[in-house]
Amino acid sequence: MQDYRAALKASDPEIFETLLGEEKRQREGVELIPSENYCFPEVYAALGSAFTNKYAEGYPGRRYYGGTEFVDIMENLGRERAKALFRAEHANLQPLSGSPMNQAVYLGFIEPGSTILAMDLSHGGHLTHGAPVSHMGKIYRFVRYKTNPENGAIDFDQLRDVARRERPKMVICGYSSYPRDYDYKDFKSIADEVGALTLADVSHIGGLIAGGAMRNPMDAGFDFMTTTTHKSMRGPRGGLILCKAAHAKGIDQSVFPGLQGGPHMNQVAATAVTMKLAAEPAFKAYTHQVLKNAKALAAELMAGGASLVTGGTDNHMLVIDVVKSFGMNGAIAEKALDHAGMTTNKQVIPDDPNPPLRPSGVRLGTPAATSRGMKEGEMKEIARIMLDAMKHHEDAARLASLRNETRALCARFPVPGLG
Ligand SMILES: Cc1ncc(COP(=O)(O)O)c(C=O)c1O
Repeated sequence: MQDYRAALKASDPEIFETLLGEEKRQREGVELIPSENYCFPEVYAALGSAFTNKYAEGYPGRRYYGGTEFVDIMENLGRERAKALFRAEHANLQPLSGSPMNQAVYLGFIEPGSTILAMDLSHGGHLTHGAPVSHMGKIYRFVRYKTNPENGAIDFDQLRDVARRERPKMVICGYSSYPRDYDYKDFKSIADEVGALTLADVSHIGGLIAGGAMRNPMDAGFDFMTTTTHKSMRGPRGGLILCKAAHAKGIDQSVFPGLQGGPHMNQVAATAVTMKLAAEPAFKAYTHQVLKNAKALAAELMAGGASLVTGGTDNHMLVIDVVKSFGMNGAIAEKALDHAGMTTNKQVIPDDPNPPLRPSGVRLGTPAATSRGMKEGEMKEIARIMLDAMKHHEDAARLASLRNETRALCARFPVPGLG
């Protein structure tokens, strides 16, 4: 077998150096950004394979290129595995990432100018749920629902009122920064009442649904479910669309030729491999541990004075209101945590009075640390280091010593595929 790393090292030492630096960074720090993870080692093999050379516009059995006999078998396997894993009638593995996957759903089923009901962005919605700066926000008319300021939960009364008033063509749930679970039937019944289609963008929790640790919107009769494949799923960077059989043709046409050209067949192969691994008992156990770790981390942080948005977590994610907790903004907290070897990201909180580059929150999650085998005991250590770093964010020597502690912790937990 070819040694691709040796070839890269010899021909492009500058880029190879940056790769080594990134690998070291990933090994020596605790990755707490909730949308990041360490992919399965098999995913590296599929991504760095001969599938990357192949053009295969179209779908299995109906391609616009010759030489597709093997990619057809591979993509069909991936589709069947995805359908079985998510109890869905149809699956499309070709979206290049999460944003095009959502665009494909809108393009296929919503007329320009029509109304879509989605979560307010500061309350947890994603850019592709109609941020004014995204072109989706320009093409469609997005109206909003919010969370309840009392308990941070989705305000279904407000959601129903807006739906009755605005008669949207689609209702979207699924979030980038909402740490709670919810009952998909509540969305479905409101959408049914006003004749709207239902889309659950479970990009963050797709893996947790696959592993049975969280509810599956397809079980509640949703029309569409979209998920990125690289977050809690541990697959390649990519998007996956699941839908009812009645929408299969519309989705496939929308992805290709509606939005994309040639699919990245190496990514499709890596997703197919991920679908197999995510069906295994070990992955089920992993997803349950992700949730246990998030609860343990939340409890420890709160005991140390951190105020969490919604007061806790039901999923893999936590949002700390760092202004309220420690009197600093999210950018300062992110930097202090970085210095201590804890990678997080600054985050707006519901109706944040502060701007996105200096917001009031920090967002963190447990999928990546759990992939290294860390459990509740390690969450306690992580919380202790984080609290110390935020409380002493101006003390460079203390941050450096915390970083050494983080390094020592990480040395006990090799990174899958990187060692
Ligand atoms: C809920 C949600 N949808 C869509 C996306 C878009 O994914 P990508 O960054 O792959 O385009 C994200 C990414 O963070 C997300 O959180």
